[in-house]
Amino acid sequence: MAGAGLLVHALESARIERAVNEQIDQEIAEFRELRIDPNTGQAFDDVGRLLNVFLSRNVPDDDEMLVGYVRGERAERTANRYGQEVLDEPAYQQALADAAGGGTEVLDSEQFGEVWVTVVPVSNTGSQGSLVIVNFLADEHVELDRTLRTYTLVALLSLGLITTIAAFQSGRLLAPLRVLEETARDITATDLSRRIPEQGNDDITDLTRTINRMLERLDAGFTAQRQFLDDAGHELRTPLTVLRGHLELLDPDDPDEVRETRNLLLSESDRMSRLVGDLIVLAKSRRPDFLAPAPVDLATLTPTLLATARGLGDRDWQLDEVADGTVEVDEQRITQAVLQLADNAVKHTSPGDTVAIGSARDRGVLRLWVRDTGPGVPEHHRDAIFERFGRGDVRPGDEGFGLGLSIVRAIAEAHGGTVTVSDARPGGTPPGARFELVLPATPEETSPWPRS
Ligand SMILES: Nc1ncnc2c1ncn2[C@@H]1O[C@H](COP(=O)(O)OP(=O)(O)OP(=O)(O)O)[C@@H](O)[C@H]1O
Ligand SMILES: [Mg+2]
Repeated sequence: MAGAGLLVHALESARIERAVNEQIDQEIAEFRELRIDPNTGQAFDDVGRLLNVFLSRNVPDDDEMLVGYVRGERAERTANRYGQEVLDEPAYQQALADAAGGGTEVLDSEQFGEVWVTVVPVSNTGSQGSLVIVNFLADEHVELDRTLRTYTLVALLSLGLITTIAAFQSGRLLAPLRVLEETARDITATDLSRRIPEQGNDDITDLTRTINRMLERLDAGFTAQRQFLDDAGHELRTPLTVLRGHLELLDPDDPDEVRETRNLLLSESDRMSRLVGDLIVLAKSRRPDFLAPAPVDLATLTPTLLATARGLGDRDWQLDEVADGTVEVDEQRITQAVLQLADNAVKHTSPGDTVAIGSARDRGVLRLWVRDTGPGVPEHHRDAIFERFGRGDVRPGDEGFGLGLSIVRAIAEAHGGTVTVSDARPGGTPPGARFELVLPATPEETSPWPRS
């Protein structure tokens, strides 16, 4: 607003000066045009006479006065409210002397304000003389000052009004942010259940919604972590109790019993370290560095998986189908998952039963499966078995923890895929189980070299 005021002032001042200049130019032009004395019909032969005719014909504005000088003496002047007073002013006399050869002098008097004195010498009529145009700019300046004062007043009032409205509005607009801030401060790591009220439909509500979604994810993450620790602690306690029980009952003096207990405890601690290993894999599965994906050739991977699985037991191992091409997966983790599935298949079948491994790829999806001819998984167990420590029907002597399938699921999900279970032979008895990893596969690469 101040800038606008200053600009108006500068532009208006320039306009005033231009207008006065034009006025002066016009007077001079009119004066120069006057050549013929109307009384005689001849050219003027006397400066006094010329000035007399010009001044008597001319009716200047309020803020202009014309004065005629003949041989340095003032001959006459047009009427003006300042009149004689200005002419007596020493500054005026000084300006008159300075501009004697023609031109404009500006003088700043306390009494009359800004005054322009323009001297137009006349010499062509025999005797020396001059026309002096005196312009008073005070009135124009006063008017401009008054306008600017009004402008300043209005600007200040507007500023006050805008400030008041802005203060009120910003308080109203920022209220949700304050609520958000207060709630956010109240939320601690131990209590993530609180949510920020979502009201309205503006950017702040969007922000609130985003924060709430983030809190939900954090809450779920923390709950899962707590649950995980609970489960792990619980499961570790059992083998420890077993260890302790055996040690308590041990008769150290009986070498046979010592040997027997030693073997037992060794196998129990093996089991425990397997459990801890599984738990570590599960805990890691949430970390971004869990996977190290690299291009893997499916035509090699599938038979390799079968060859590795063969070591798990004496079964009729078969290769169902082998997919072609390359996929971007973590080969070690995929092997780990398939071996878990094969291990389960071996556990739920008997020597001579069929266990088959296969892979297929269609429409950007890679399927890797392990099927067996065992008892299969009953419908009501199918959700629970993928949970941590979730087990379905267990064969006698099975020392599993129920972590295998949750590791398989973690690996599948880390790849952005899933794992499912179905009957290997729908309607057959026994139905058999078919576990299938479904992973997103990058579009098939077309290799220019024929595969051998
Ligand atoms: N091939 C299968 N046939 C029938 N049931 C199965 C099969 N695979 C898994 N299951 C069922 O799913 C449950 C969970 O399997 P999971 O691999 O998670 O645990 P586990 O094999 O019992 O123990 P762990 O793998 O930790 O040694 C098993 O207890 C079993 O009841
Ligand atoms: Mg298992």
